[in-house]
Amino acid sequence: MSHTGHYTYAEVEKIAEYLLEKAPGKWKIGIVCGTGLGSLADTLENANSFDYEDIPNFPVSTVPGHAGKLVFGHIGGKSVVCMKGRFHMYEGYPASTVTLPIRVMKLLGVEVLLVTNAAGAVNKSYKTGDLMMLKDHIFLPGLAGSNPLVGTNDERFGPRFPASSVIYQPSFRKLARQAATELGLEKYLHEGVYGMNGGPSFESIAECGLFLKLGADVLGMSTCPETVVASHCGIQVFGMSLVTNECVVDYESEKSANHAEVLEAGDARSKDVQNFIIKLVGLLPVS
Ligand code: HPA
Repeated sequence: MSHTGHYTYAEVEKIAEYLLEKAPGKWKIGIVCGTGLGSLADTLENANSFDYEDIPNFPVSTVPGHAGKLVFGHIGGKSVVCMKGRFHMYEGYPASTVTLPIRVMKLLGVEVLLVTNAAGAVNKSYKTGDLMMLKDHIFLPGLAGSNPLVGTNDERFGPRFPASSVIYQPSFRKLARQAATELGLEKYLHEGVYGMNGGPSFESIAECGLFLKLGADVLGMSTCPETVVASHCGIQVFGMSLVTNECVVDYESEKSANHAEVLEAGDARSKDVQNFIIKLVGLLPVS
C-alpha cells in the first residue's frame, strides 16, 4: 500500500528499519539519479535493489523514463544508496511525499547527498550537453507555499526555520571541478542557479524571461524540495544539472521544449555524467 502526505518520524523510521534489515550497513552517501543518470545505479558493486512499490509505504514513480528503485551498493569501495528515479510535485505528490526518501536516507546514515537533474538553460552561454553545479536555487513553488517543510516540524529532523543560504556546499563544488578536470569535462562545466518550475508544463517564453531576470541559469521541475529537506536534517548537498535543452526565450524562435528531446540529450551524456559522479564519490571526504 502506498501512503502519501505528511510522514511522521515514526513512519520514516519504520521504512528505514525495513531497509536496514535487508541491506545492513553504514550508508553515508546518498545519490538521487535524475534524467540521464539512472544508469549509474546499474553500475554499483554488490548491488541490493528494491522496487519502490515493494517498500512498505513508499510512493511510486509515475513518469515514463523514470524508473523506481532504491539501490544500495558500492562505488570504489564506498557505500552509497541511490534513488534510481525520483518523485516530482507534478505527479500530484505533495512536496512532503516527494522528499520522503531524503528523510529515509537520513535515518539510513546519509551525511552527503548528490542530486542530479535534467534542466533547460535560460543562460544564453549554456549549451545542450553542458553541466551546471548548483551554487543556489530559486524554489518558486516553495516561495509560493509548497515548501516540503510546511506543517508540523519534528525537531528530530531539524529546526522550524532552517537557513537556505547554506544548502549547496562550496567545498563539494571544488572537488567536482577537480573531478571534471580529470575527466576532461571542465569545458562543459558551469556553476549557477537552478530555478524550479512546479511543472509539468514547460515554461512560457515570458516565464523563461522571468526566471532569467530573477537570476536563474537553468530551469527544472525537481531538486529544490529534496535539497531543502536534506539541508534541514543536516545532510550536506551537491547538486548538478545536465542541460538537456535551451529554453525558448524569444518570440521569433520556432523551437519548443519536449520530453523526448530531454531524454535524448540525457542519454547522449549519461556516460560522462556517470563517470563524473563516480569520480566525485571517490574524492568525497566520507568513507
Ligand atoms: N524546463 C523545465 N524543466 C526541464 C527543462 C526545461 O526546459 N528541461 C528539462 N527539464
